[in-house]
Amino acid sequence: MKIGFLRQIYKKLLKPTSMAQDAACCFTGDEGSIKQNKLIYSAATRNQDPILQVLKRFIICDADNIEDEDKPLFLEIAAGSGQHAAHFAPHFPGVRFQPTEVDDNLFGSMIYYANNCPTKNILPPKLVDISKKLSLYGFEENSVDYMYNCNMIHISPYACTVGLFENAGQFLKPDALMITYGPYCKDGVITPESNIQFDLSLKERNADYGLRDIADLIKLAETNNLSLIDTIEMPSNNKTLIWKKN
Ligand SMILES: C[S@@+](CC[C@H](N)C(=O)[O-])C[C@H]1O[C@@H](n2cnc3c(N)ncnc32)[C@H](O)[C@@H]1O
Repeated sequence: MKIGFLRQIYKKLLKPTSMAQDAACCFTGDEGSIKQNKLIYSAATRNQDPILQVLKRFIICDADNIEDEDKPLFLEIAAGSGQHAAHFAPHFPGVRFQPTEVDDNLFGSMIYYANNCPTKNILPPKLVDISKKLSLYGFEENSVDYMYNCNMIHISPYACTVGLFENAGQFLKPDALMITYGPYCKDGVITPESNIQFDLSLKERNADYGLRDIADLIKLAETNNLSLIDTIEMPSNNKTLIWKKN
């Protein structure tokens, strides 16, 4: 009963809860003609402000006077609706936000948020499957200032987590940061009970999904020249992990 109930909550978390009626217009840019549908994920709405407070501690943004292409690049992997970039970007006007997704059905929403960003520092979305090398999508090694990934590691096959860390090791600049957010397992233990049930429901959906152990992520990071430098407890039993390229 518990698992069925949690599966319902999980579906609710992942599905857009509403679409703005006012956003149905066409984008004609390099991406072609994409209908802009503003999606709102309830989980992203809940966690965006606590995550912003963490980003404010780690993003150095004193770059107001420099040319656009020299502004620090914040590469978001698995951007979903595009809400997070929209929430963060106005607080860091000197940073270029690049949302990416493997699911191009979400591009209409990401373009909506980019076009409506008052500070105009969100780039059009790019297709990125993070289990593949970022060079396939035009990124150069040692070129990314920040990588950000929210709520993907446990809801995708482990190959995506491996790809995320391999790409961070290769494509972040030296000393640059990767920020990951989500629920994690710690030293083989998942807490509290709601996260145990969530993990079970994920594995029921796909045996290769599930909460990852921070100890395994640290090993994966070390093989990719990254270190865990901070762990921040977040609401609803989530954590933000801060990884630094050595
Ligand atoms: C739970 S959603 C999180 C979306 C967004 N980050 C947020 O917090 O609202 C997980 C996202 O991971 C994306 N994803 C899954 N596999 C991926 C992959 N191989 N590469 C990039 N994104 C992927 C899915 O398309 C989905 O949008």
